[in-house]
Parts: sequence; structure tokens; C-alpha cells
Amino acid sequence: MKHIIGNWKMNLGVRESAALARGVLRGMRGKDITPHVVLCPAFTALSEVHKVVARSRVDLGAQNIGTERQGAFTGEVSPVMLEDVHASFVIIGHSERRQIFGESDELVHDRLMAALQSKLTPILCVGETDHVRKAGDQESFVTGQLQSALAGLTIGQHQTVMIAYEPIWAIGTGHPATVDDAIAMHKHIRTVAEGLLPGTDIVILYGGSVTADNAYELLREPEIDGVLVGGASIRLQEFGEIIDAGVDVVTAQEA
Ligand code: PGA
Repeated sequence: MKHIIGNWKMNLGVRESAALARGVLRGMRGKDITPHVVLCPAFTALSEVHKVVARSRVDLGAQNIGTERQGAFTGEVSPVMLEDVHASFVIIGHSERRQIFGESDELVHDRLMAALQSKLTPILCVGETDHVRKAGDQESFVTGQLQSALAGLTIGQHQTVMIAYEPIWAIGTGHPATVDDAIAMHKHIRTVAEGLLPGTDIVILYGGSVTADNAYELLREPEIDGVLVGGASIRLQEFGEIIDAGVDVVTAQEA
């Protein structure tokens, strides 16, 4: 299976989000075999997008999660609230959260724990800066992020952990990682994550300037379980083409 996650970031109002979700479903209509698609709108639109995707093959995800169930945590949205609006996935530790809002490795770990305790599937983002890659330290950097995020987690029997490799220099820049670089890092992530979480189902996605032009060459690689798409996921036509690339890959896999 291949996974295509749309991270809409801080874009689109409620009506626009619902319309985009309807468009995504329309594009998938009549296709028997499709990749697994998850839409991650802003918190404010989760409820309405749920109404659109309910009883479809498309799942709903949030872009962040509070660590506590309820209480005096101004601005946070708890796991219970996310379940209440039928989100079943959540992006955690996106580089924008880490860099702009100063989220620490410890906080990322706690958010991950909160997601797993409430049966949401976490999409943990990791990835190095340009500076780290130029120094050739990307693998040890990502190892550090994985160790602090995943160490000591209790994973339920049928729970999946998704990890998105998103090199920061590739996000929103139009300069994606090469397929070879992505594969090399995915292999590394798989080894480290399986060591930290033995027996857990681990799904590894690539993110960072995924477009309709490069989606197929990424998705066809066995080492790449899917893509996390930012900018291109709010452009209906292009996101549809990315899903179609996934359709081609999974159709060939099943043949
Ligand atoms: P991008 O963003 O596709 O716009 O590069 C990816 C992400 O930040 O998840």
C-alpha cells in the first residue's frame, strides 16, 4: 500500500476546505484501487471535512495534538477533541512547529505518546537542515530525533507509526531530495526505528517539494511507503495528479 497525506498547513477556510475535500473524492470516484489518502486541514475545518469524507476511503488527520486530555492549556487541542471530530491521524513534530514555535524533542515525544494512547496514528516528522546535510551529518541528526521521539513508547498491538522524512531544505523550496537520497535515508530510518520499536508496523513517507512531476518516481520505490505533500496538496488539480500517480503504482503492485 502507498499513503498520500495532504498537509494543508494554515491555509483554507471551512468552506474552501470542504470543497477541496469534495474535489479529492470526486477525482477518486470510480477507481477500484487507490492509494490510502489522508487529508490534514486546519483544526477549524476538521469537523466539516469529516462530514465530506465520512464513509469514504479518505481519512482525516490533524496537524498537531495536545499532550493532555483536558485542562488549562490555552491554544492546545487535546487527543479527545481530535477523536471527537473523527481525526484518526495526526502530524507531529513538523519542522515548522520545531523551528518557528520552538517545539523541543521532549514535547514531540510527549505528543507522540498522547496520540498513541488515544489510538490516533502519528505521522512523526524528522529531517535535517541544509547546514547539517552539507556537513554530512544527516544520518546521525535524524537518529537523534528518532531516539528522543520514540524511546520508551508503548505501542499497542495493531498500531502503526508513520515517520515522514522531510529534509528542511526541501520543504516549500521546489528542491526535493533526489530519489536516491530519499531511499538512503528511508533505509536508515527503518533500521533505527525498528530497533527502537521492535515488532511495530512502521510506515516511512517522504516529504519536501513533492509535486505531480516527481510523485510517481518517488512512490514507485519499495523503500518509500508514501508522500507527505504540503503546497501541492491544496491545489486540487495537482493533488489529484499525485493521487493518480499513486493509483498507477498500487495498480502495478497488485497486478
Ligand atoms: P511542501 O511541504 O510539499 O510544500 O514542500 C511539505 C511539508 O511541509 O509537509
